[in-house]
Formats: sequence, C-alpha cells, structure tokens
Amino acid sequence: MTEQKNDLMEKITSLAKRRGFVYPSSEIYGGFAAVYDFGPYGVELAKNIREAWWEAMVYDHDNIVGLDSAIFMHPKVWEASGHVGGFSDPLAECKECHARVRVDHLLETAGVFADEKMTEAEINALLAEHETKLKCPKCGKSNFTEAKNFNLLVQSNLGNFTGDWDKEPTYLRGETCQGIYVNFKNVLDSSRVKVPFGIAQIGKAFRNEITARQFIFRKREFEQMEMQYFVRPEEAATTYEEWRQKRFQYYIDLGIKPENLRWHEHENLVFYAKAAWDIEYNFPFGFKELEGVHNRSDYDLTQHSKFSGVDLSYRDPQTNEKYIPWIVETSVGLERTFLAVLTDAYVEEKISDTDTRIVLKFPKKLAPVQVAVFPLMKNKPELVEKAREIFTVLKKDFRCEFDDNGNVGKRYRRQDEIGTPYCVTIDFDTIGQGDSSNAEAGDKSLEGTVTVRDRDTMEQKRVKIEELKKYLR
Ligand code: GAP
Repeated sequence: MTEQKNDLMEKITSLAKRRGFVYPSSEIYGGFAAVYDFGPYGVELAKNIREAWWEAMVYDHDNIVGLDSAIFMHPKVWEASGHVGGFSDPLAECKECHARVRVDHLLETAGVFADEKMTEAEINALLAEHETKLKCPKCGKSNFTEAKNFNLLVQSNLGNFTGDWDKEPTYLRGETCQGIYVNFKNVLDSSRVKVPFGIAQIGKAFRNEITARQFIFRKREFEQMEMQYFVRPEEAATTYEEWRQKRFQYYIDLGIKPENLRWHEHENLVFYAKAAWDIEYNFPFGFKELEGVHNRSDYDLTQHSKFSGVDLSYRDPQTNEKYIPWIVETSVGLERTFLAVLTDAYVEEKISDTDTRIVLKFPKKLAPVQVAVFPLMKNKPELVEKAREIFTVLKKDFRCEFDDNGNVGKRYRRQDEIGTPYCVTIDFDTIGQGDSSNAEAGDKSLEGTVTVRDRDTMEQKRVKIEELKKYLR
C-alpha cells in the first residue's frame, strides 16, 4: 500500500512537470530545495483555486472583506505574535551523513506522538527513548545529535544598511494573518463592517522548513489563503463550530471526494488557542493537514495592542460596550489545495487490453483549460479557419485552447492529461465537405455541427455550432 502511494506521488510529480503544472525552482542550476514554480497550466489551476476560495469566503459573505497586506512588516509584529521567540521546529542532525531532520516528524514515523509545541527537553527525552527505532531518511542509520529548536522565520536585510543581518532584522512574513491583525483598526475605520465580521487575504508566506520533501506539500515559499473572523468573546465557540462545518463543506462543494477528507483535532494546543482542528486530505503519503481552523481567543489583538501601544479593542455601536474581539481563523495553503485537487483528479484508466490513459478529472470549474478546439487536420486551411472561428467565439465564455499538433488521438491524450473536460473537433462534415461517397446518405446533415468529446466518458456527440455554448455550459 505504501509503495503504491509512493508510486502515485512519483507519477503525480512527473505528470505535473511533464504537462507544465509544477517545475522545480531554478532547475537548470540543480533546483532549490522546497521551492517550486507553477508552469502554464499550474498557474491557471492556482488562479482557479484562489478564485474559488475568494468567492466562497468574500463574495458569499456580506460581512467578510478582502485585504492585501505587504509581505514585509515592522519587525515588532513578529515579536508580538510570538514568532521571534517561539516559531520553531525541533531539528537534529544525523551524525553519520549530516542530514538535518525534523525530530517530531521522525518520531511520527515510529508511531510516537510529538509536535513542534513540545519543549526541547520533552522532545529530547522522546528522541533518547526511541532513537534505535528511528532511521535517518537519507542514510537509514540511527545516530542523531540532540534536538535544538530551530526558528523558521526567514530573515532579510530590507532597509538595513549596516551590513550586519542580525542587527535590526526584518522578516519575510511567516503567516499572512499578522497583516490582517495589524490592519484590524484600519479596516474598521475605513469600511462599514461591524463585529461579527471577517477579513480575508491570499498571499505569500515564508518558512525555513527543515524537511524539503513531499513535493509542494511543504514549501519554503508558499501561499496562504487565510480568513480571520472577529467575534464577541461569548460567541466564539459557536462561531467556531459554524466555520468548521462551512470549511469542510467547501471542499466537498469544490469537488473533492468526501472519503479523502477527515477531521483531526490537535492534541497539544498552543496556550492561547481554545480549539484547533485540521481538515486532513488523503495525500499520496497519507492523511495530512490541508487546512487549520482555529479559535485563537483574544490573543492576537491583545498582543498587538500591547506591543504597538494602540488600543485595538472594539466598541459596540449599539451597547457602547468595549472589548477585544476573539478570532476564529481558517487557514489553508494554496499549494496544499493544489496538491489535493491534483491527487483527487488523477486517474489511470484501462481503455483496452493494451492501452491505458492518464486523465485528470478536475472539477470543471477548476480545470486550467475547459474546452480544447481542434481542426481535424492542420494542413487543411478551410478546417483551420473554421476551427479558429469557433475558438474565437468560445474563448469569450470558456478557458479555451487551440490545438492542432499531432493527430486527434494524441490531442485527446494530451488534453486528458491536463484535465480538459471537453474537446471540440472541426472536421470535413462541419464545413459541408463530408465523405463524398456517402453524400447521398445524408452527410450534408452534419454540416454546421462539430464533434464534442467528453473527458470522463470519452463519448463523442455531434452538436450544432449554434448550440455549442449552451451545450458546454
Ligand atoms: N495562521 C495560522 C497558520 O499559519 P499553520 O498551521 O502554520 O497556521 C496554515 O498554517 C496552513 O498553511 C496549513 O494548514 C497549510 O495548508 C499551509 N502551510 C503551512 N506551512 C506550509 C508549507 N511549508 N508549505 C505549504 N503550505 C503550508
């Protein structure tokens, strides 16, 4: 089973590169660990995922507004948030091959629960107890240094001209939500929101992740889609449950198979959190965190009030009551959604005794290309011209691609592999030049029609050009 799953991960990674979804970063220089680029189809899939999230979070709620805060923020933000002091993972080194390993993950491979919230002493006690069972992922030996907490914040020299990086360090944001907290007052003062309300943001985050495995699941530069919902303290628990349900349903509505989703409750909460559950997806390497839904109490606004000296409490316009709102957070990585969507869509289908096809059965809304338009032959100007004409009309309503490479069979395979739901072929019948030997049999009746091929069933239907848009919709 595990072997099959590893195999699936390899197949997905290879397809993603071959078909222009995801490339390793700076590959011509040997790549750059845990950093990836989106290719032409990847960028479309990512855009569709972002849009689906924005629609579900912002457009579907009249009390959630958007924000796009800068990647760089005042360094004190990261002190107030606790990242400078405590945003770390336990790191050990293999004494044999010097590979760096994340100890909580290593312990997990031996069935021992540990996480990044444990103290160094707790982690090292577990490491000592189970060391003989723990294998270095690189050389397979069991000989490790003591674990040390390694801070994940990525430091920069922005605005620092001293030449000393440790002096006045600035950071690339480790999570996008801090930009929301520091703009809480701005949004309140400049828009018409009232508690309860939410602020949503999509943007890049950076973490010095120790382990650079599992493709785009754990990246050092990634994108988060986060929403922070501000509520009255006494309403936080109920609101939290509502958001848990909504977020689970969101994935089902997105087209993810329900059997590949499940809940996981955090065993070990950070001190300020009142509840934390993950929505897990069944990735090729097993069920792992896709999204976190957290009840963060009043911690964030309290901390930023303290560190900035600006009062971030809220005055209820009706009752005049003043309080620090509690926050219910929903937080998901764009790339984790991307990988879940890719994994969910990946199918290998036997179509004859000797032939198998790979098809990405994306939900139609997310497919990078929705309709591919082909002239049957690329060297027949009359077919190409008609196909171009139809392509020009369809691309106004659908994400379309014009494809005249190779034969139609090869084009179908290629479109299957990028997950295109429909292929439209323009042939001689379309332009009234069907097989003349059969003309009497009524080929003329096919004039003005095209063949539409369905990705999932592979069925082909003749559809009138004037009904094509309606049919595809
Ligand atoms: N603001 C809360 C927060 O950042 P988190 O659990 O650290 O919480 C939230 O991250 C989500 O961001 C995760 O559920 C995951 O989807 C995504 N994420 C976190 N680290 C990631 C990484 N290194 N690469 C890709 N996605 C990541």
